[in-house]
Amino acid sequence: MSIIADDENFIKQSVRKNPVIKAESIEFDKNFENSIRPKSFDTYIGQSALKETLKISIAAAKKRELPLDHLLFYGPPGLGKTTLAGVIAEQMGVEIKITSAPALERPRDIIGILMSLKGGEILFIDEIHRLNKVAEEILYPAMEDFTLDMTTGKSQTVKTMRLPLPKFTLIGATTKAGELSGPLRDRFGIIHRLEFYTEDELSQVITRTAGILNIEIDKEGAHAIARRSRGTPRIANRLVKRVSDFALVKYDGKITQEVANSALDALKIDNYGLDSTDRSLLKLIIEKYDGGPVGIETIAAAIGEDVRTIEDVCEPFLLQAGLLQRTPRGRKVSPETYRHMGYKVPQTAEQQNLF
Ligand SMILES: Nc1ncnc2c1ncn2[C@@H]1O[C@H](COP(=O)(O)OP(=O)(O)O)[C@@H](O)[C@H]1O
Ligand SMILES: [Mg+2]
Repeated sequence: MSIIADDENFIKQSVRKNPVIKAESIEFDKNFENSIRPKSFDTYIGQSALKETLKISIAAAKKRELPLDHLLFYGPPGLGKTTLAGVIAEQMGVEIKITSAPALERPRDIIGILMSLKGGEILFIDEIHRLNKVAEEILYPAMEDFTLDMTTGKSQTVKTMRLPLPKFTLIGATTKAGELSGPLRDRFGIIHRLEFYTEDELSQVITRTAGILNIEIDKEGAHAIARRSRGTPRIANRLVKRVSDFALVKYDGKITQEVANSALDALKIDNYGLDSTDRSLLKLIIEKYDGGPVGIETIAAAIGEDVRTIEDVCEPFLLQAGLLQRTPRGRKVSPETYRHMGYKVPQTAEQQNLF
């Protein structure tokens, strides 16, 4: 998979801001990620409800000797959608072909990949909300009836051919479920949202990664990193590596709580693991809008991000952490946001129960 052309600016911008705590995958850590990606349900940490349902679907499919239903995973970047698709393939004992919507620009791209599939195989399409209309139209009959409808010739001599395809499973992943067209969404048998990870789960991810990379870490050290990983395994893994560099150069190599905290402070990663976009968003609401509410478009324009990025990448974590609230009149912050960002909680606001 390659980085998608028009995301490049966004990614470059993000990297400039703070490469360590962005949840999006960036080119330099692709190999690193692949080396630590869990391959089985046992090593895939957390998401337990989702794992249980998937295990049942997989067992049933195996009993029926049929491929799995088409699956759609959605949720913020870095929570394990791609990894889970790989685990499913492993569990089903089938091959997985990985692509992403922007790589399927021309009809022949999607036709080619569909025709290359063998019975039971999994086709994984990342960023599936970005499929164009033509590709979607080709996918519908492929998903529904395992056929490929192709037209050949020009106007008067146009012929439609219907080719059978082997039965396959499509796994789609997206950060923007809302942008998926209705007809496409309806063709997925199973739709699941991935959740942010708890501190304990992230600690397990960190300990596992440290084990693979031969990094010495104790329980408190793992927790200290987990606490600042924004609920996201991709960030947790990236931080382990950065903290380990720090431990090696400034200490004896072992990651303890003290080492982790001083490294994370040096990397300017705060207690919630907020990145600079999160922070400028919260700061804006506090400083310019007295804590809100303020409309999302106004926020986006003021901090120079697009509305969708804010909604899909920043907001889910801020909402879940209780640092941001969505109201009919716009977004507002909580007293905890004031405290966390180093501001005095305005008394009037607290007295009048504005939060
Ligand atoms: N449940 C998990 N347990 C352990 N590691 C995980 C888990 N989910 C994700 N990871 C790690 O986080 C990284 C990002 O996961 P990925 O599947 O690429 O996220 P997404 O596709 O949702 O953006 C991977 O390198 C993987 O090692
Ligand atoms: Mg992915």
